[in-house]
Amino acid sequence: MPNVIVVGAQWGDEGKGKVVDVLTADADLVVRYAGGANAGHTLVVAGAPLVVHLLPSGVTHAGKRCLLGPGMVIDPEALLEELDSCRKRGFSVGPEAIGVSHHAHVILPYHKELDGASDQGPNAIGTTRRGIGPCYEDKMARRGIQMWMLTRPELLGRALEGALAVTNPRLRQLGAATFDAGPLRDRLASLGSALEPYLCDTTSIIHEAMAKGARVLFEGAQGALLDIDHGTYPYVTSSSTVAGGACTGSGVGPTQIHAVIGIAKAYTTRVGNGPFPSELKGDLGEQLRKRGGEHGATTGRPRRCGWLDAVALGRAVRVSGISSLAITKLDVLQGISPIKICVGYRLDGETAEEFPTAGVDLERVEPIYEEWDGFEEDIRGVTRIENLPGTARAYLDRISELAKAPICLVSVGPSRSETILVDNPASPG
Ligand code: IMP
Repeated sequence: MPNVIVVGAQWGDEGKGKVVDVLTADADLVVRYAGGANAGHTLVVAGAPLVVHLLPSGVTHAGKRCLLGPGMVIDPEALLEELDSCRKRGFSVGPEAIGVSHHAHVILPYHKELDGASDQGPNAIGTTRRGIGPCYEDKMARRGIQMWMLTRPELLGRALEGALAVTNPRLRQLGAATFDAGPLRDRLASLGSALEPYLCDTTSIIHEAMAKGARVLFEGAQGALLDIDHGTYPYVTSSSTVAGGACTGSGVGPTQIHAVIGIAKAYTTRVGNGPFPSELKGDLGEQLRKRGGEHGATTGRPRRCGWLDAVALGRAVRVSGISSLAITKLDVLQGISPIKICVGYRLDGETAEEFPTAGVDLERVEPIYEEWDGFEEDIRGVTRIENLPGTARAYLDRISELAKAPICLVSVGPSRSETILVDNPASPG
């Protein structure tokens, strides 16, 4: 059975949670490898929504091992709360089901303080305020706290003193609250005791399982256009959200990966600031927002909505080596006609089918659109691709042609059952 990476192919919120949830049926291990509680995956299980921020979406399936890999940044308090809320919903979330990498980095209260205090003013990114950027900054500067340190209070205290010697002056300068290493160490040590049973060498667990023929699903967070290297920098998150991040963030080589599924909505959304060439600012944008329930699962912020951008999607397909696409929320487009696809950009009189070199120019491009007939029929009950209206199929075919990737799955509603499986790359054999 193939090991599969699932990644977002837009600016996040593509519906990865639901697709991972569907594909988990064929997996043994589900691994998250980047980001932290900035992600919010909404799953609808037994008719009731469940939002997970840190735990892999596979958590709702009994008998599957879910791992949080070394590339993640983890807020221990948020993790314990999430474990608790899943437990209350009846899901099995003991250490036999969930493993957390020793090497993942810890999001500390000062990271969150710094995130909120520094992301202000006209150049603000509009972060989720979950401390993601400052935590990855500390990791790269080699003053971060890894999960294993939570179980070694003395060493933790010294590491916190070192980190705070750099961070407190920055916080002071920003007029934000500063922190004392002692009380912070004590609080973290008690969180560490609660989490200790979950801490493990997730990399070895993955390799041992793969050696026995286990099937691994790597669950991406955010989307390609928010990637630190390949996204719309600086309006990005601070991790590698592309498929390559699954290798570095979980300790698995590229030769172990058999398929990469890219998730894209049938239109585009973005939350936070930054360029969005195909954004719809008028009534139609509002209509998409309402019908698609486009509010951030983490922050509740309204998402900006627009037409599908095939230039951006094609780029995402290339940088992640996406072998097939899952198109989500097709049902939201019901009754909208024509449906537009952005197929190129016009900039200073020139046309281009690629992103401009300078990120700032993406703010100025004028999208070039193709128009496609919409569909009137309610498609939420459709389970086979050939039963979709012809115009919907033509729209999907065009997306596939422009993005240069086949479509393996189409989602036509929030529940697991509202899914058209065209060709499941995660299924055995
Ligand atoms: P950060 O990841 O909190 O630092 O936020 C950086 C940017 O990424 C902001 O524009 C956020 O809105 C965006 N972002 C982070 N996580 C997600 C996500 O899961 N979905 C959509 N946007 C996200």
